Formats: sequence, C-alpha cells, structure tokens
Amino acid sequence: MSINYSERIPNNVNLSSDRALQRALEHWQPRFLDWWSDMGPDGSSASDTYLRTAVGVNARDWASYGYVKMPDYRWGIFLADPIENRTIGFGDNYGDPVWQKVPGELRTQFRRIIVTQGDTEPASVEQQRLLGLTCPSLYDLRNLFQVNVEEGRHLWAMVYLLHAHFGRDGREEAEELLERHSGDLDNPRILGTFNQPISDWLSFFMFTYFTDRDGKFQLKSLAESAFDPLSRTCRFMLTEEAHHMFVGDTGLSRVIKRTLQVMKQMGTDDPASIRAQGAVDLQTFQRYLNFWYSSSLDLFGAEESSNAAFSFANGIKGRPDEATYGDHVASDSILKIDSQDGLKEVATRNAMNEVMRTSYTQDCAIGLKRWNRLIAREKVDFEISLPSSKFNRNIGFWGGITTDPTGNEVAINEFDKRRSDWLPSESDNKFISSLMQRVVTPGKIAAWLAPPERGIDNKGLDYEYVRLR
Ligand SMILES: [Fe+2]
Ligand SMILES: [Fe+2]
Repeated sequence: MSINYSERIPNNVNLSSDRALQRALEHWQPRFLDWWSDMGPDGSSASDTYLRTAVGVNARDWASYGYVKMPDYRWGIFLADPIENRTIGFGDNYGDPVWQKVPGELRTQFRRIIVTQGDTEPASVEQQRLLGLTCPSLYDLRNLFQVNVEEGRHLWAMVYLLHAHFGRDGREEAEELLERHSGDLDNPRILGTFNQPISDWLSFFMFTYFTDRDGKFQLKSLAESAFDPLSRTCRFMLTEEAHHMFVGDTGLSRVIKRTLQVMKQMGTDDPASIRAQGAVDLQTFQRYLNFWYSSSLDLFGAEESSNAAFSFANGIKGRPDEATYGDHVASDSILKIDSQDGLKEVATRNAMNEVMRTSYTQDCAIGLKRWNRLIAREKVDFEISLPSSKFNRNIGFWGGITTDPTGNEVAINEFDKRRSDWLPSESDNKFISSLMQRVVTPGKIAAWLAPPERGIDNKGLDYEYVRLR
C-alpha cells in the first residue's frame, strides 16, 4: 500500500474513506503543530534539514531524502502491510484469527497501553529540545532532528489508533498527550525516565542506545498483538526506531574512540589528564551508562506482574520475537527470578516483564562487546560492563534496595559514600556540560568524540546536513 502524500495528512490507511475520522485528525493536526513549535527542537524551525521521509512501508523503498524545514515535515499515518490470514501468536486465543477491532472487554487495557506508548514519543522530543544548541557537528544535529521528527510521527501513529478505535475517550486521550510535558511538576509524562531532562549529548547517545532500545522491545511485543492495526503500526515504527539506536550506538563508539586516541597520545589512563584534553574518561562513561541502563530497566515494569499476565493471556502484548519460543500459551510453566529472599518461582505469564527485560539486556550487551574490542585493541586495561539488573532500581523486587553495580547489597550509607563512583555526580555533569560547545561548520567535529565512519545517504562528512537560519 503506497502512501498518499496529496492529502493534508499523508497516510496509507485510506483516510479519505472515513470522513469523521479524517475530520477528527485534521482537528488534532494544528494542535500537534502548536505543540511542535512550543516544545520541539529549540530555534530550529527556519533551518533546512536533510531528512529522510517515508515514501512506502516496505524495507526496500521506504525512504526518500531531501531538505525539509521541520515544521513542514509530512507527519502522517503509516501502517506496515497486512499479513494475510494472520493468527494470534500467543496466550489464551492462540491460533484464532487476529482482530481488526478492539474487543469491548479489553478496551481499557488496550487504551492504557497505547496511551503509555504514545506518551513516551513526544516526551523524548521535549527532553531533547535544547540539545541542538550544543551539537557536536551538523551531522549529529541532523541525526537529532531526524530522531525528533520520527518521535513526532510515532505520536501520530498512536493518536491514529486512539482516534480510529476508541471513540470519544480516544480523542480525549489524544489531546492529553499534548498537554502532559516532560518534567512538568503538575502534569508530567507517565513514565519516570521520560521526565529526566537530556541536557548533554553523552546522555542523548546513552538515551538513544538504552532507552530507545526499551522502545524497540515494547514495539516488538506490541507488534505481536492480536489487535492487528496495533501490530501493523508498531511493525512500521520499528523500522524508524532502528535508526535511533544506530545514532546511540555509533555516538557512544565515537566517544570511546576519541578517548582511546587521547589516552594513546598522552600515554595516560589518568581520568583527570584525559579530561584535561577534552575527552571523556572511561570511568565517567561507565557511570553515565550505569544511570541510563538502570533507569531503562525500570521501564519494563515489576518482575512479577498480574498486569503482564493479563496482557499476555488476552493477546494484548506478546513476547518480542514470540515465534522463537516453543510454548506460546505459557500457562503451566514457571520462571525462577532472583529476589531478596532468594530465587522466587513466578508463573511464566506473570514473569513476562522479566522475560522481556532479559532479552533487552542481551541486546544491550552487543554494543558493549564491540566497544570493549576497541578498548582491548589499544591494550587499555578497562572493560565497560552492564551493571547488575539489581543496581539502582526503583521498582520491582530490587526497587529501593541499595546494591553495588555488581548487585551485592550494601548499606545505604555505604551506597551514599560510593555513589559518585557508580553514578554520575554533580561534578561529572559539570564536566560533561563543559564539553558541550556548538560546532556547526560543515565537516568539523567537536573534540570530545571521533568523526563518524560515514555520512548519511552516501553524503560526505562535510556535507551541509543542516542549513542553519
Ligand atoms: Fe519512538
Ligand atoms: Fe525512538
């Protein structure tokens, strides 16, 4: 199904055939644009940015590149092509045909899950709105803006489902998605991590590596949903999400590469000397990683959850890559999960959050292996590691329990004493902020990270990815 760009709202859902829905979304559209101009990337609206726009939903032909002023970006509604005769892949209704409408008895749960996913999308744009002012290069600025417009589109994706399938409640929820704001004391975003400001680019790369990867796993589990429009929406979103993780992965690699260069040039592994050269010492890198990884782990929810069991049983949300599991019903098995009172037996359905978190952790580890190879090649004695999933948790079995990064419990005062060894301190934040100087000369890159290996869309590194106005 090709995308119709001649309509006010580009779409491949034949929007013009449903006048009421089209009108409702056209009513929401100017509110979205107001939100973008108030809460979107600061000072960016007049600049031409070399952006990718979806022109089809197939992997082969879905992207076209060109200069766009961001407020003119063609946000729209794109669903992956339907899979013929698709059946429900898990839970109590395993093997039944998928649903094109939300079953009445599951309305509340579906709405909640769509709203929660939808809320993270504009939240991240809000968290990142000042980053453009300290971009390390035009290449990076363009990537930030690409991520931002796509998160805006992900909001559209969820708002479409709310409008198309949840009537008046859905329309109200769609309004509220523009009213809550990241970090707002009175009306914050739903999930904690999305209320933390992202004020430096090291945090941005950590966020796109770790927190967008949580997004990937949430989308993968929703792509399994029995509610087919949700599944198709999420399948298309995953293609966009992949770029966000690429930005995080390559961004963090470049930080490490630069650090290793400085260490070699100076013949030192002393953090203060590395910092004096304007690079990020590996210890600080590790503390930022500890923070973003642990806060992303919380996004999966509690290890034992009756909510998760309900979602699985009722076809709302499956496991990422459900097809790779042997037992899709999972009604009479258990999982042993480490708790404070030792291994706890949890019914598999109630342990779905933990199942997802475990695959997420394995996916996170892939980048670390690559980074550690870079470090080992330079014969530097340091290994970047993921902290234990017990470390710095706010919810679940380990919520509020103080452990060291390897997961050994420590007394609160010991934790407080060592906190600045394990998590970013005020002075770390200050140092990282001091590196955030804006570089916008084509081809130039800030000194705290290495240049990327290649440009975007086969363009060179000196390409003017953003024409600033
Ligand atoms: Fe997203
Ligand atoms: Fe994302």
